[in-house]
Amino acid sequence: MQVTASAPGKTILFGEHAVVYGKPAIAVAINRKANVKIQKRADSKIFVEIPGLKLSGYLELEKEVIKIEKDQGNIGILNYILKSLKKAQIEGETESENGMEITVDLEMPISGGLGSSAAVTVATLTAALTHHKLENDHQIKISDQDLERDKIASYAHQIEMEVQGAASPIDTTLSTYGGSIYLSADANKIIRMPLDWDLPLIIGFTPRQMNTGELIEYVKIKKDRYPAVINSILDSMEQITETAREALLLKDEKILGELMNINQGLLDALGVNTPELSNMIYKARKAGALGSKITGAGGGGSIIAYCPQNRDEVLLKLAKKHTAFPVQLCGEGVQVKLSPKERFT
Ligand code: MEV
Repeated sequence: MQVTASAPGKTILFGEHAVVYGKPAIAVAINRKANVKIQKRADSKIFVEIPGLKLSGYLELEKEVIKIEKDQGNIGILNYILKSLKKAQIEGETESENGMEITVDLEMPISGGLGSSAAVTVATLTAALTHHKLENDHQIKISDQDLERDKIASYAHQIEMEVQGAASPIDTTLSTYGGSIYLSADANKIIRMPLDWDLPLIIGFTPRQMNTGELIEYVKIKKDRYPAVINSILDSMEQITETAREALLLKDEKILGELMNINQGLLDALGVNTPELSNMIYKARKAGALGSKITGAGGGGSIIAYCPQNRDEVLLKLAKKHTAFPVQLCGEGVQVKLSPKERFT
């Protein structure tokens, strides 16, 4: 048998950066996924291949060693896979000499603010936990209902913390459960938002120079230098998120678009905009998006354009010079499926 688990990425609609300072945020899972396929190997090795990144290598869980075979500069993602496999092995109580062949198919760019590392972590954990269950009991049938989502979400968040040093639970929660969440200001409490509409968005992506940690630090330096100025920007962001929460529940397209544009102005004021992002944001508005803004940490990475109308026009305009693709809210979280093994190794 081979096991495939698929987990969605995410986009932050409102509240990035402000959330670092205890302000609320709203984020949704998107229908772009990380698909992780695991099958048993005849030997005891663990081989991982990510064809889309032209990356492959062997992992040694015990010693936490990664031996790269092919690499186009994206090896960081293998750390999440290694930690997930190790956690699943301990949890699954399986013999360490059981080899695995793992293939990862990513439907989103990495380092683009779209939660690719969380999606890979959640999908790897789910596939590996299921694989070990099958190894221990060949008779059992695993269905999506059998997934222990609370456990998967908690392990995945721990792994993100270990690999990155810091992480909000936004990405791993959305990859595990899907849907939309409001992260409240009090103690990062996650409240699931019942949204029953598609939320048509276009993502525009440019490669990023700085990582999330560096961008958070950059904002912090500004806040330390001009506390009163930056604090009032963060307060305004909070007001935007609270107003947007109501607009989302009432399906008020116009208000939602306007609030995205105001939020973008404030992200620009924090200094996380770039000429490429700005270019995409204004192109999208000109082509008919009701709102457009940076999503995630900025400094490159992704924008979202909210397009209840003129989707094709916005997509066409952005895709001329950049990577652009449509996404929708994804109601379902991580899914697992079993199928006959493809080949013997
Ligand atoms: C990064 O995608 C968004 C930030 O708000 C950091 C975080 O929420 O962990 C900048």
